[in-house]
Amino acid sequence: MGETIVSMQSINKSFPGVKALDNVRFELESGEVMALLGENGAGKSTLVKILSGVYARDSGTMEIFGKPYGDLSPKQAQAAGIAIIHQELNMCRHLTVAENMFLGREKTQYGVLSNAVMEQEAQKILSELKIEIDPAQVVGDLTISKQQMVEIAKALSVNARILVMDEPTSSLTSKEIDDLFRIIRALKESGCGIIYISHRLEELQYIADRVTIMRDGQYVASMRFKDTNVNEIITHMVGREIKEKFPRLPGKRGKEVLTVKNLNAGRMVRNVNLTLYEGEVVGLAGLVGAGRTETTRAIFGIDPKESGEIWLDGRQIKITCPRDAIKAGVVLAPEDRKKDGLCTKLSIRHNLALPNLDLICGSAGVVNRKKEDALCEKAMSSLSVKASGVETDAGNLSGGNQQKIVVGKWLARNSRVVIFDEPTRGIDVAAKVEIYNIINTLKSQGIAVMIVSSEMPEVLGISDRIVVMCDGRVTGEVMADETSQSEILTYATRFDSKAG
Ligand SMILES: Nc1ncnc2c1ncn2[C@@H]1O[C@H](COP(=O)(O)OP(=O)(O)OP(=O)(O)O)[C@@H](O)[C@H]1O
Ligand SMILES: [Mg+2]
Repeated sequence: MGETIVSMQSINKSFPGVKALDNVRFELESGEVMALLGENGAGKSTLVKILSGVYARDSGTMEIFGKPYGDLSPKQAQAAGIAIIHQELNMCRHLTVAENMFLGREKTQYGVLSNAVMEQEAQKILSELKIEIDPAQVVGDLTISKQQMVEIAKALSVNARILVMDEPTSSLTSKEIDDLFRIIRALKESGCGIIYISHRLEELQYIADRVTIMRDGQYVASMRFKDTNVNEIITHMVGREIKEKFPRLPGKRGKEVLTVKNLNAGRMVRNVNLTLYEGEVVGLAGLVGAGRTETTRAIFGIDPKESGEIWLDGRQIKITCPRDAIKAGVVLAPEDRKKDGLCTKLSIRHNLALPNLDLICGSAGVVNRKKEDALCEKAMSSLSVKASGVETDAGNLSGGNQQKIVVGKWLARNSRVVIFDEPTRGIDVAAKVEIYNIINTLKSQGIAVMIVSSEMPEVLGISDRIVVMCDGRVTGEVMADETSQSEILTYATRFDSKAG
């Protein structure tokens, strides 16, 4: 390893009602990948935001390449060689890929803004990284994983010498993750220092040189990755051992609840047939891009259905918009929490209350505060949401705690069917278990649950039955305790040979 290029000592940072960082220390050397680990709300994002000038620290000292900094502005941080890829994607959705990459340092030709020049340079960087994205495309039209790749390309285009990645792989496909790791290794070779935040502990073995662990805003430990192991890391993170990572509840499948017949919706939902039963958890597995999210969106009425039938409790129902679905008792916790799942500018209270107004309003249409409080209290405590209170803006919560709110708002309803799309993305080990327990609670109440997940151990660990999709079609169906990862992968890659 090389010289120390970042040294942060005795860093303190408070937000109203929360001590986010309490006397934290952090060091990074050149040519290493330092994994920064901790539960949701431990303070990881806050620490790297201070290093990149997004937040000002309350007290503490910082040295970057040996040079002391007091109050660091984002511009100074960039000039010092720091680039950060934020956890919640931070791009302008209506601008193109190239415009986003050169935001604030736009290229001109003959004194005027030149899209052509920016697109050319963007293309060069993207090609170097072997990322196939058209620089002229509007970012809002890209999938989350593509957007994440653009953020990475953008960070690299400023010649960073210290690169911070806050959960970069949370929505990448395995091939994209391989590409990212290849890029990270190359950066290491060239002497860059990388701070890598992730909840996917199993991927650390491929890239981490050292780990720093935080808990409740405090520094816990730093060590070489090869001198430790994942179990020890988890124990440091949560302060206790987690025995059961997938607490699947044995249950008995009840009667048929939701049946989807010959559903077609766009290219990614082709003749899908599915049945969900009372008290059973169905995992919808497949590779990213298999059409799982599209299927859930079509069922829930976000996207139009071209043909097909939906039956609920033996009666055919019509779902043409999410409202129809919610009324019928079918709810969806979507994948992209910032865009679809949460109003980040509203308080936790309002986020929880909004979809449940029919339950908490009196006959005069006025919110019954007592009922609202009870609803919030139930969601906050059953999910152990870490926040200073329900009046906190949802946008100020840590990533994992935001996810809990997305799930939490549906708990109040007596739904028949609950669909979760990637419910544990960006969630720490202990909180994952909490989400699984919620799924189990729903299951034991006789609710039909479906979970879309790209994480194979999760699909296998928490579902009773697994339906596999590939290229918009259902290609397999297996019982979780009679199958294996490789069998599911076989179905997940069963592309239609005629379709090429
Ligand atoms: N802008 C803010 N305003 C108020 N509170 C905040 C703000 N940003 C963070 N916090 C609080 O500071 C604490 C640390 O949050 P932080 O986002 O750093 O956690 P994290 O370790 O990144 O968690 P995760 O793994 O969920 O992303 C949390 O309690 C969070 O609610
Ligand atoms: Mg974070």
